Amino acid sequence: MMTFNENFLWGGAIAANQAEGWYDEAGRGLSVMDVVPMSAERKPVKRGTVSYKKISNDNYFPARFGVDFYTNYDADIRLLAEMGIKCFRTSISWTRIFPKGIEDSPNEQGLLYYKKMFTLCKQLGIEPLVTLSHFDVPLYLVEKYGAWRNRKMINFYTKYAETVFKELKGLVKYWITFNEINVILHNSFSGGGLVLEGEKHPDQIRFQAAHHQLVASALSTKLAHEIDAENQIGCMLAAGDYYPFSCNPKDVFAALDKNRESYFFIDVQCKGVYPFYAKRLFEEKQIVLEVMPDDYETLKKYTADFLSLSYYTSRTISHNLKKTNEANVMVSVENPYLESSEWGWQIDPLGFRITLNTLYERYGKPLFVVENGLGARDKLENGTVEDDYRISYFKKHIEALLEAQKDGVELIGYTTWGCIDLVAASTGEMEKRYGFIYVDRNNFGEGSNKRFKKKSFYWYQKVIASNGKIL
Ligand code: BG6
Repeated sequence: MMTFNENFLWGGAIAANQAEGWYDEAGRGLSVMDVVPMSAERKPVKRGTVSYKKISNDNYFPARFGVDFYTNYDADIRLLAEMGIKCFRTSISWTRIFPKGIEDSPNEQGLLYYKKMFTLCKQLGIEPLVTLSHFDVPLYLVEKYGAWRNRKMINFYTKYAETVFKELKGLVKYWITFNEINVILHNSFSGGGLVLEGEKHPDQIRFQAAHHQLVASALSTKLAHEIDAENQIGCMLAAGDYYPFSCNPKDVFAALDKNRESYFFIDVQCKGVYPFYAKRLFEEKQIVLEVMPDDYETLKKYTADFLSLSYYTSRTISHNLKKTNEANVMVSVENPYLESSEWGWQIDPLGFRITLNTLYERYGKPLFVVENGLGARDKLENGTVEDDYRISYFKKHIEALLEAQKDGVELIGYTTWGCIDLVAASTGEMEKRYGFIYVDRNNFGEGSNKRFKKKSFYWYQKVIASNGKIL
């Protein structure tokens, strides 16, 4: 029976902005998600269509508090080690290292914090996988430079990257430059620090900002390899293929078009060139990129070592039906063949296998699934949660993952999203939970903050111990 490779990296994933909290501790500066409220304005602020400056300070800002991972990291990582994880994905909070983003030297307290965290991982036999920017742009850079719309960001970012590559050398070898780079087209503020309210040509700004991120990513890949030949650098896609709603060629073309919108930046990061369809897209959208003479060569030379992805759901598109739901940022028509989560994200394990095959066929790079999971309302009873629905979701997705491997797809590992409950990125809720570990905290940060093992904790422990044979 074919199973996962011996060194397959089973793990769990979180992000600084959704877990750490302690937003003004030890010299940390403010970052974009710290000013995104949990209110009706959350979505437009994240999109950048409403300026964060309009939001009253009376609101609750969940990213400022997270789940106290900042102070609890030791106990939390030990719990994850008890579950048997071999890989732990988190992000570094950029503003713990460079509080404004422009400093000449880094904040030593921030560096020490991550050194301790990743040293602990190593001691526990856990391989860290670190995202440099997971919905994370120093707010000072937004205010002073307009964030990624400004080319100066390339230097600020590469300086930050170089600092952590050097300081964490020997502790971290797997890196992701930007979380879900395609999200900048949708959530332009959280993805790129772009405030677009009142802008006449937002797409021009979005694609220019993305170009700067692509160059910054390529230059960081170069630096990472120079600093430590062991380093492996990944790009990352918010994945989940679009299906045509029907076999009407217009629907088929609409799906092709929507998929290209997602793949656009990954095409650059994996193939080293802007895709052939960029020319027409830029013409139609009247986008004129400002490109420096060396940019194309940089993009060509320093492509990603692996392609990482998040997968929660597939999407469906029709040329004439209006969207009926929105799952992980992208719009979709409801697929009548699929069930949905409580938040309307459709559940599609076969779509996972399809997506993995499509990506491997398109790029030929090893794939690292760094997010997958089910956001659900959990009920804590007698110190645990009977989350059979989550076990069922994972079981089907891991089966699909194995099928993809049998299809020939090369896989590095699988880190489930929100292995410990954390703040939801879309809604800011705590009650949209993903974890194997329950955190006693409600949507407004109230609760004992204690951690409890769910039924899925023991299930995933067996999955890892059996290398996926027992599901
Ligand atoms: C991904 C993000 O898009 O989806 C995560 O990288 C996010 O940060 C995850 O948390 C799930 O989305 P949500 O809105 O349910 O938290």
